[in-house]
Amino acid sequence: MSLVRVLHASEHGSTEEIARRIAARLTAHGHRTELGDLKVSPGLEPGSAAAVVVGSAIYHGAWLPPAEAFVRKEVAALGAQPVWMFSVGMTAALPKPLRSLGARSEQPRVARLIELVRPRAHHRFSGVILPGHLDRKGRVIFRLLFCRYGDFRNWAEIDAWADRIAREVGVPGGVRSPGTP
Ligand SMILES: Cc1cc2nc3c(=O)[nH]c(=O)nc-3n(C[C@H](O)[C@H](O)[C@H](O)COP(=O)(O)O)c2cc1C
Repeated sequence: MSLVRVLHASEHGSTEEIARRIAARLTAHGHRTELGDLKVSPGLEPGSAAAVVVGSAIYHGAWLPPAEAFVRKEVAALGAQPVWMFSVGMTAALPKPLRSLGARSEQPRVARLIELVRPRAHHRFSGVILPGHLDRKGRVIFRLLFCRYGDFRNWAEIDAWADRIAREVGVPGGVRSPGTP
């Protein structure tokens, strides 16, 4: 049984729930999993796991500071094992014409982290956004941009991503899809 560490940073809990779901899915596939909250234990080490899954909510175009700091501090250790990264944002809350613009605007900061780690894969999930998460000014801007509040998590998409990781853990270089050169 391989140990997979699932590390996360969340402000309002939706990213943590995604991390828990990924861990549960990996466990169902027969892996041992350890969940780690990077906000509570910023000194967590990737350690000698078979793989690390690390994800963060995106706020103002960046991973939460404990998650970004963790990746920068542990970049060498992360390079020694297979890593999967995920980001949780609000793309689905934006009206369609703004979605690609929203994703592009936050790319530089998140892309730099991905470039540092070179994970097996990075996936962007939609999270949860509720009026109570925003201050008054934020709520006004949200309304002016025709954004929608809600829970936009797609559990089937999350499960499918975790299932792929479960299959690839322990396979050097990852599983190639049929037809991949
Ligand atoms: C103040 C604020 C800023 C946000 N900034 C971004 C952002 O720049 N890009 C994005 O995709 N989502 C952004 N979001 C949406 C959050 O990433 C989304 O709500 C996510 O599910 C929060 O995760 P959490 O519940 O784990 O904290 C923002 C949300 C808030 C409340």
